[in-house]
Amino acid sequence: MALVLTYGTFDLLHVGHVNLLRRARALGDRLAVGLSSDAFNALKRKHATQSYADREAVLRAIRYVDEVFPEDTWEQKAADIRRLGAAILVMGSDWEGHFDHLSGHCHVRYLPRTENISSSQLKAEIRRGPPTAAVDAAPLPRLPRLAHAGPR
Ligand code: CTP
Repeated sequence: MALVLTYGTFDLLHVGHVNLLRRARALGDRLAVGLSSDAFNALKRKHATQSYADREAVLRAIRYVDEVFPEDTWEQKAADIRRLGAAILVMGSDWEGHFDHLSGHCHVRYLPRTENISSSQLKAEIRRGPPTAAVDAAPLPRLPRLAHAGPR
């Protein structure tokens, strides 16, 4: 049973996250996710829209995820690898090279990021709103009235 381990904030779960989780899980038999705690996000100066509890609930509903635990510090990874008996640490390619020092503990793999999507990008797009206000303001087409066929 090879356990794969990955880390992240996973705010506003999107297809890039799902691709990463699916590919990570496919490298082994089980997938554990070290989910950045709210305090750790604050330390990283990363603003998550959703609380740890909500991000955890969403992650646990993903079929590729077997276990979720809090990530509170940068330094905990080696201890997590030992505690869980992780065979592979997986990170997205934005972290390329950053965790090579852990290769004495387990395999370290960087998987390509999905292009053109991130939690920050989604937040920015939501803040910007639709491309033109006119799209939202356009009246909906009128639907024809259907004759009632069944019994009253
Ligand atoms: N990830 C990915 N492809 C994306 C976005 C994220 O493979 N398009 C991966 C990251 O490389 C990381 C994991 O998903 O291994 C969790 O990333 P996270 O930082 O939580 O997601 P982002 O969408 O990158 O968040 P942000 O915009 O806040 O940096």
